[in-house]
Amino acid sequence: MGGCGTYVFWLYDQRRHITIRGSDEAMPDQEFASAVLEGCVDDLLPEHVLAEISDDGQWLSYSSKDKDDPGFLLHYPRFDDQPDDVKVDIVKRSELREEKRMYWIADIVSYINENDPAHLAVFKIAVHDSQLARMWNDAHAMRALRGHPSIVPFEKFVVDDTDYRLLGYTTKFIPGGTLEENHSFTHFRLSWLDQMMELVDDINLKYGIMHRDIAARNFLIDPQTQRLLLFDFNNCMQIGNATSHPRIGSWGPPDVDGVIFTIYELLTFDKSFRTGKAFWQNEVGPIEQMVEWPLKATLEPGLDVSTIRQHLDNWVKERRTTRSIKHFSEATDPIALPEQPPQEILEYTYFDEEDQKTSRVFTHGQARMAGVHYVDWSRPAFEKVPIEYYVPTLTLKEEKGASSPHQIEPAESLQVPTDHSLPNLALKEDKGASSPSRMEPAESSLGQDQEGEKVAG
Ligand SMILES: Nc1ncnc2c1ncn2[C@@H]1O[C@H](COP(=O)(O)OP(=O)(O)O)[C@@H](O)[C@H]1O
Ligand SMILES: [Mg+2]
Repeated sequence: MGGCGTYVFWLYDQRRHITIRGSDEAMPDQEFASAVLEGCVDDLLPEHVLAEISDDGQWLSYSSKDKDDPGFLLHYPRFDDQPDDVKVDIVKRSELREEKRMYWIADIVSYINENDPAHLAVFKIAVHDSQLARMWNDAHAMRALRGHPSIVPFEKFVVDDTDYRLLGYTTKFIPGGTLEENHSFTHFRLSWLDQMMELVDDINLKYGIMHRDIAARNFLIDPQTQRLLLFDFNNCMQIGNATSHPRIGSWGPPDVDGVIFTIYELLTFDKSFRTGKAFWQNEVGPIEQMVEWPLKATLEPGLDVSTIRQHLDNWVKERRTTRSIKHFSEATDPIALPEQPPQEILEYTYFDEEDQKTSRVFTHGQARMAGVHYVDWSRPAFEKVPIEYYVPTLTLKEEKGASSPHQIEPAESLQVPTDHSLPNLALKEDKGASSPSRMEPAESSLGQDQEGEKVAG
């Protein structure tokens, strides 16, 4: 008997999964599955969760059955019983209005109960299990650091309407793109280096936090003041906290190295030292030892690379010797990152060939069958989106005929690409467009090597 291939894709803008299935003969590999998806994606109805190709490769059939829905149920952390000072910082998801789709896990939104049409926020969420603990830390660290002049202002925790669970958080929307994408700046400013050094000193030595993802892509530029604003505390940890959540880890490169990489990359446009590697494998030594940095950027008048390097080196030396801490308790004003509440396991009962069985609820389909509430991010397709943005997340080879919904247990087998593997779908600025404008890949991310995007965040 021939085999059967099952390929699960994440639909970027619809924020849901779809399964593409067919016999080995009709659909030999993932590339073919991508082509099948490309051919049918614009015809999919929101309820279609599976597209199956006939054995002779001639027909596609669609399923909207619960048992075929590969959507993976996420157990968002409970967020009830919060103290009053936290309660004032909570909004419900239904109180946000999608204004523009920006990124696979971040939209531009406005607050429904607010009368200021100019006030836009960015709503960042977790859509995969591996992001839950990071989102929790990200939101709490950003809130604790609210008010810092070099950090994007935190606004609200966002909870689910049905169940008080933390889904994500909002920050003030800063237009203009990140320091990596923002080509409007004409020259590198020495003040940026000063701001980065001061900021990293504060985060590390005052608040006891290691950001672990200091990079141009995680800075925005305040359009009024031209100040750099850091965000994305996804990877952050308390310095030396060995009991850190397993998904977060308690290791990682110091932010001091992050500043060196960032300045080097901004000056030389050379990202090869941090490309294609996991972030803890990056070695900053070769950059520090390089006699001459091949300058590509324009510098502010009167500034030269040796001045920048001198400034940086002095600070680095100090930070590696006299001004260094090993544990967050040594920080002058350490912030607390509350522990994430434990995950609950939901179970349901089903009948398999007359036998009653109990299983953990893994998928949205199973949750519906079990009458369990789940957070649904799915939304209508915005417009035709290029195939590169449909990301394969799961490949199963099964014996044909053996497929039963209960054999696909995404918790065990779902291989979502690393957090950063999706290209950034920034919006082309579409002045005057009221409804979400067409999603197009940002020019700046188009020409870049995808490898870089894989490790980048
Ligand atoms: N407050 C904001 N204002 C403007 N753009 C933002 C803001 N927050 C996030 N973004 C955009 O969303 C992207 C993803 O946010 P980020 O927190 O870096 O996510 P990730 O953890 O996936 O790297 C950023 O690269 C940036 O383009
Ligand atoms: Mg980021």
